[in-house]
Amino acid sequence: MRVLSGIQPSGDMHIGNYFGMMKRLIELQKSDEVYAFIANYHAMTSLSDGKALSKNTLNAAINFLSLGIEPEKTVFWVQSDIPEVLELYWILSNFTPMGLLERAHSYKDKTAKGIQANHGLFSYPVLMAADILLFDTQVVPVGKDQIQHVEIARDIALKFNNHYGDILTIPEFRVEEEVATVIGIDGAKMSKSYGNTIDIFCTKKELEKKAKSIVTDSTPLEDPKDYSSCNVYALSKLFLNENELTNLQERYKSGKEGYGHFKLHLADIIWNYYEPYREKREYFLKNIDEVKDILKAGKEKAKKVASKNMEAIRNATGINY
Ligand code: ADP
Ligand code: TRP
Repeated sequence: MRVLSGIQPSGDMHIGNYFGMMKRLIELQKSDEVYAFIANYHAMTSLSDGKALSKNTLNAAINFLSLGIEPEKTVFWVQSDIPEVLELYWILSNFTPMGLLERAHSYKDKTAKGIQANHGLFSYPVLMAADILLFDTQVVPVGKDQIQHVEIARDIALKFNNHYGDILTIPEFRVEEEVATVIGIDGAKMSKSYGNTIDIFCTKKELEKKAKSIVTDSTPLEDPKDYSSCNVYALSKLFLNENELTNLQERYKSGKEGYGHFKLHLADIIWNYYEPYREKREYFLKNIDEVKDILKAGKEKAKKVASKNMEAIRNATGINY
């Protein structure tokens, strides 16, 4: 199965990104053909500081590699290194009804939050469709918030194929229900734009500070606590196995400990979970040239597929004359 997903380099990566998308993509490398990329053109919809964008792009690549993307197995590149995607974006725009984009939740949410309603933001799903359709993608692993975007890509592909024949592969989204929406420290969806994230690669001090600020109820220290409605428990659950979870449930029920203990416990388990990845990250941070070489090799691999598919699309649409 060909599996593709991308992440925007618009800020530090958080555990919502990790469990919602990255971890699964990394696991799928064992069984499937994985295509993973850094969506730097998409990040322009929220980031207009050039220096920050280029720095974040390399950082995102370093993070993805540290967390387990294997460049020998997987096609791993930066979106802008394959300009064909912008060509396809234009072609697909002609098969994208206005109503389809007007209904996009993400656009409505972002403009409601005060983000400027420009054409880039509005047509964002068409570029995402181009990312997906350029590479014959069958499955797109994403968090819940991206489902509609994959559905838009499907709609556009069907419309295109109806007109020109079976050229584009029709993609499907895949969401893992358990981690469809990872909550943030305030209990709402964890998101960079809500300022409620726990970042994967922060310092231990920052991690403890974040953990301490997780919203909990006011059950007194000595009373038994309901783990099932607790934000600290919900986050801990992502990192623990069955036995460890049962153990934690007992601690909640026993009423001997307060939320402060559970919060520090959470900070510890997150810290330990990412320990090996932090070491790899230190290595890549010191060897940026190696990262750039990896991206260059990924670009060559992606280019082969993109050029071949784009040629078929140019032929079908009559752009080749
Ligand atoms: P953010 O909302 O912080 O800007 P992105 O939009 O960059 O995050 O998301 C990158 C990937 O991570 C997407 O596949 C998205 O669905 C997933 N993701 C982001 N936040 C969460 C979350 N809280 N729970 C599950 N998946 C998430
Ligand atoms: N829109 C996605 C996000 O914010 C990132 C993205 C861009 C993407 N192109 C994609 C994800 C193609 C999957 C497939 O998370």
